[in-house]
Amino acid sequence: MSYAIEAIGLTHYYAKGTQQQVAAVDHVDLAVERGELVGMIGHTGSGKSTLISHFNGLLKPSEGKVLVDGVDIWRDKETLRQSRFKVGLCFQYPEYQLFEETVYKDIAFGPGNMKLPKEEIDARVRRAAEFVGLTPALLEKSPFDLSGGEKRRAAIAGVMSMEPEVLIFDEPAAGLDPRGRKDLMALIRSYRAETGSTVIIVSHSMEDIASLADRVVVMNHAKIAMQGTVDEVYSQGDALREMGLNVPDITEIFARLHAQGLPVPTNIYTVADGVRALQALGGRWRA
Ligand SMILES: Nc1ncnc2c1ncn2[C@@H]1O[C@H](COP(=O)(O)OP(=O)(O)OP(=O)(O)O)[C@@H](O)[C@H]1O
Ligand SMILES: [Mg+2]
Repeated sequence: MSYAIEAIGLTHYYAKGTQQQVAAVDHVDLAVERGELVGMIGHTGSGKSTLISHFNGLLKPSEGKVLVDGVDIWRDKETLRQSRFKVGLCFQYPEYQLFEETVYKDIAFGPGNMKLPKEEIDARVRRAAEFVGLTPALLEKSPFDLSGGEKRRAAIAGVMSMEPEVLIFDEPAAGLDPRGRKDLMALIRSYRAETGSTVIIVSHSMEDIASLADRVVVMNHAKIAMQGTVDEVYSQGDALREMGLNVPDITEIFARLHAQGLPVPTNIYTVADGVRALQALGGRWRA
């Protein structure tokens, strides 16, 4: 059985052949299982966006390969075209790419490219809109008349409506307030639970990744520096700090409480984990 996505020796040079040539992704091997939710972290400039932009053929590898369902997406034109539908990429600030007259047309754009029958497109638009919490009335509005949060959700619905096997988010919560961030993470979690899709999410928020990911991949200087479960990766606090990453504040707090002699675990990576750990201490700590 093939992987949902596989990168083999994947290398990408920007400004190839010039003095400025940099390997933004340097011989990366990565295999993503079907249905897996992979969280990707790494300091700014470590190559995360460059790496994921290869997964639907938006960028072409300088060296190495990308396989989707076991097939090299650059094998021929049709395979490349299909990979754009199989792997949906949701960029950072996706709302900047809304351009149609109505929200409906924007969400219908991807399925339209797939040459699906009209009724199927309509069903998908309505399903995706409902999923992200946009009311039918909003569908007839211009995307420019939506609030910031609604625009973001409309843009995400535009990728979901293609019903890709793999959905990739690059910093989906960037610029949202804490409430919006939490809602969006919950939405991604239920999307994955409902569809069983493979999801890759890039985020600077170590806490968001801890709350979602089955596996964490850490990028550092164009390479994968570390990967494993949340526990395996987040317990390497010193190594992460050396890569310019910080474990969540809640993890630090629990490490200190533990050091002070409070009988709490140290593998606490989200506030929800923390609440559960304090509740386990007894009635006085009940939230
Ligand atoms: N279009 C481009 N042309 C030249 N160099 C680029 C281009 N895009 C990115 N780079 C460089 O490639 C490297 C990796 O960038 P990339 O955007 O993939 O990192 P990132 O991990 O996504 O960073 P961030 O967390 O800031 O989004 C950086 O050194 C960056 O300056
Ligand atoms: Mg990036």
